[in-house]
Amino acid sequence: MADVDEAGLITYLTTNRAFMTPAVEQAVGLLDLAGSRRVLDVGTGAGGGLVALARAAGEQARVLGVDRNESALTLARQHAADAGVLHQVHTEAADLLQVAARAWEKGRYDAVWASDAIWPGNVEDPAAAVTRLAEALAPGGVLALFTSNYYSSTFLPGHARLERQLLTASELDWGVPADGPHHYARHLHWLTAAGLRDLRLHVLPRIGFPVDTDPTVRPYLEDVVWPQLLAGARCQGREAGMTGEDLARAEVLLTPGNPEYVVDEPGYYLVHPALLVTGRR
Ligand SMILES: C[S@@+](CC[C@H](N)C(=O)[O-])C[C@H]1O[C@@H](n2cnc3c(N)ncnc32)[C@H](O)[C@@H]1O
Repeated sequence: MADVDEAGLITYLTTNRAFMTPAVEQAVGLLDLAGSRRVLDVGTGAGGGLVALARAAGEQARVLGVDRNESALTLARQHAADAGVLHQVHTEAADLLQVAARAWEKGRYDAVWASDAIWPGNVEDPAAAVTRLAEALAPGGVLALFTSNYYSSTFLPGHARLERQLLTASELDWGVPADGPHHYARHLHWLTAAGLRDLRLHVLPRIGFPVDTDPTVRPYLEDVVWPQLLAGARCQGREAGMTGEDLARAEVLLTPGNPEYVVDEPGYYLVHPALLVTGRR
């Protein structure tokens, strides 16, 4: 299965933060946080959600960002300082379930935000984790699960077969279940099982087109997506139905500077159909 070193994680977190910011801000804007006092961001990463939550909730709000990775929290605090909201923010290095459980004793949250955090490998049982997060809410509080929806994205328009193979190989490489109760697309099932009401689903597309008017697109593709897809193809491509020729073709299309580099094809575009699902206690 894929193994990410610390430097790779930091590159991923900061590059992904820059790329997803417009969708994250849009999602947070839909939560109606004005007047909230206590907000929890679980799996905060480099703090993109943390900053958006602090701004949307306003000066009176305090936002706790939790991550089990100290380096991620350093990035998150720096991002909050750069955005001028550090005074609203606390961070804690802990397991997200531990912090959710403690909400029973120390008062509950007006909002809980989880972006790409309730995911196979991060928690053993996603449905149970969502129930714990729901229990951390005050009555009327909102639980928001945001997903960038990586595996439903369009990365290689016009190369559908190769794109399907690469995404399948990557899922295999990460040990993502192909289907079943732990599959990442089960957010609404988990919110329903957690007994939340007023469930909502929003699709917030993050579009990279035209590519060179948006300075976050090439770094995201070249530093995160292509290395991940090629690593997956090298380890699991055969399992995903790729031949040696398919792998060689992927290397050509995904190598910047190559005359056939896919991003330089006229009409290249990227779409992440990011999802926000919410429910109230
Ligand atoms: C895919 S990243 C998402 C980061 C950020 N929320 C975003 O959307 O950019 C997942 C983050 O959750 C953290 N994480 C994973 N499992 C966790 C757990 N059980 N408890 C606390 N943090 C966790 C990881 O360290 C990582 O920073």
